[in-house]
Amino acid sequence: MVSITTLDEFIIRNQYEFPYSTGELSRLLRDIGFAAKIVHREVNKAGLVAEILGKTGQINIQGEEVRKLDSYANERFLTALEHGGECAGVASEENEDFIAFSDENSRNSKYVIAIDPLDGSSNIDVNVSVGTIFSIYRRTSKMFSPCLKEDFLQPGKAQTAAGYIIYGSSTMLVYTTGHGVNGFTLDPSIGEFCLSHPSIKIPSHGNIFSVNYYNYSKFSDRVKAYLDHCRDGENSSSLSLRYVGSMVADIHRNLLRGGIFLYPKTSDSPNGKLRLLYECNPMAFIVEQAGGASSSGTERTLDIQPTELHQRAPIYIGSYNMVSKFLNFLKDTKEPEEE
Ligand code: AHG
Ligand code: MN
Ligand code: MN
Repeated sequence: MVSITTLDEFIIRNQYEFPYSTGELSRLLRDIGFAAKIVHREVNKAGLVAEILGKTGQINIQGEEVRKLDSYANERFLTALEHGGECAGVASEENEDFIAFSDENSRNSKYVIAIDPLDGSSNIDVNVSVGTIFSIYRRTSKMFSPCLKEDFLQPGKAQTAAGYIIYGSSTMLVYTTGHGVNGFTLDPSIGEFCLSHPSIKIPSHGNIFSVNYYNYSKFSDRVKAYLDHCRDGENSSSLSLRYVGSMVADIHRNLLRGGIFLYPKTSDSPNGKLRLLYECNPMAFIVEQAGGASSSGTERTLDIQPTELHQRAPIYIGSYNMVSKFLNFLKDTKEPEEE
């Protein structure tokens, strides 16, 4: 019989990676896995259940329309994390401010989480992959008291763990605790995430570039020069443009196949679109742990010092050699990058 390693077994077995571990991080990851299964269940019946499709009519702090599944996923994750009592608070894309849990177990926890409960939500109504992205930090404030904003405003290199769930042709959970990247596929017949992609390594070079080409005219000349090179330069015939519009799906594909994902700043969004705390940083941690690279164009994503919970940052992320080549384009072309 083929032996199966479930997420829970894997987490417990790898607890030795943290010499002074109390099991809190392991339990926190299990809480996330549990909430992911519930969201998976709802995503999978989205076409059948009217309450899941469409918009709520509200606008979130990002100025974006909230979809019903955004709000459902947010509630599920917040509830699982609060009831689990393994983290002191959560900063969510869907909430203007962070939430400091008040019960005793949570206040005694050393961790806080930043989360994008539903990534790519505009794709849900048309049955295209969506995801969840999370980032776990050790708090810097005193334990046994409510967590503070400063606990979330740490650079990405301070992350203890990060991961994503992709609700795709199958549902997968991919995470890192800084010791490589492992992927688990949900087997719905037993309701368990099972290790399916151990030690994921991103190819150092791939043939995919992923960008919203519609924004081309709003990109800087150097970014345009790189994209022109991808389209017309030497070896361009081996490249393909692939863009789902769900960051989780675009990065997941590139992680397994090799490629670069770009969300540059534009003339009307000087910091790009994607959020540093719960989109860029967790993905940068995962991709670096898999052997790839991530940059804002001016610095390593994980080195950026955040100042706001919902801060945005440009991102260029993926196969190491492709990101390096892109960064050379930013330096080499004659026209200066406008500030
Ligand atoms: P969210 O659904 O959490 O707001 O995130 C959407 C993000 C990200 O998933 C995706 O890469 C990007 O928005 C797509 O933006 P464009 O439609 O501007 O290309
Ligand atoms: Mn998102
Ligand atoms: Mn979202």
